[in-house]
Amino acid sequence: MKKVLVARPTFPDVIERLKQYFEVDVNEGEVLPQDEFARRLADKDGAFTAGDVVGEKELAGAPNLKVVANMAVGYNNFDMHAFDAHEVLGTNTPNVLNETTADFGWALMMAAARRVTESEHFLRAGKWNKWSFDSFLGVDVYGSTLGVIGMGRIGQALARRARGFDMRVIYHNRSRVAPEIEAELNAEYASKEDLLKRADHVALVVPYSKESHHTIGAAEIALMKRTATLTNIARGGIVDDAALIEALRDKRIAAAGIDVFEGEPNFNPDFLALENVVLTPHIASATEATRRAMANLAADNLIAGLGEGPRAGNPPNAINPGVLRK
Ligand code: GLV
Repeated sequence: MKKVLVARPTFPDVIERLKQYFEVDVNEGEVLPQDEFARRLADKDGAFTAGDVVGEKELAGAPNLKVVANMAVGYNNFDMHAFDAHEVLGTNTPNVLNETTADFGWALMMAAARRVTESEHFLRAGKWNKWSFDSFLGVDVYGSTLGVIGMGRIGQALARRARGFDMRVIYHNRSRVAPEIEAELNAEYASKEDLLKRADHVALVVPYSKESHHTIGAAEIALMKRTATLTNIARGGIVDDAALIEALRDKRIAAAGIDVFEGEPNFNPDFLALENVVLTPHIASATEATRRAMANLAADNLIAGLGEGPRAGNPPNAINPGVLRK
């Protein structure tokens, strides 16, 4: 029987599915330190990961490894050059999280614009003793301009929701999306600079890479309106967190909604001193149904990638399908 490592705890029924095909080594505890992860990977044919770093060192130390299935759409934790060099298949879990993640982008954006968590903290602290005309004045979402940076599947789902809020949608992406998608979303392509200058609410939905590192830093924030909000549901490192903290402190922009952080879960503690930021612990895809769908899709990829089950040899979400042909 082939051996697989499940590097993080996951739904018990998903582990049972894997046990139908494989000898399964499950980490039931905390995130494995990197050397322990590498040690447990060393004799495996496959692995189920969720953000665990898999690079040259880990792959070189696991000669039987054929498939690593990441339970996430983003796979910046995989060094895909090393995967190709070692002829290991990487897989991810796209699509099943699009709508859930877009919902959460809106939740953060609206909470930031309307100061939801800040005012809740005030209420919980027992400070509310009168209604006042100028308490917690926010910025409008309805009828404003949404700027989406990264018009992939989640960016499009986010933009689609803007129709109900009668918003103008502008977007920036490596390349323009198809004209019919632009028409359906009523979305106008803009340069990054133009978008930052015009948008009332900027949402980041780009995958993390060397190229997208610090897509938003001090210079970019300087272009934004003072009344604008910034929402990051993409990855830590897309925003220069220190620059954002400084901008929020100086009220350079109105507010931010941040679900992902540089160095998470060890984020910059200076965020905590700020009221004009909504902070959540990387939960944009976290609904029961969607996390189940992601876990099952990662399992489908692992099972099929290791030549088992109904789709044997044809995993649904191969990132580097070239290795399957070898
Ligand atoms: C979550 O961050 C994902 O990439 O799916």
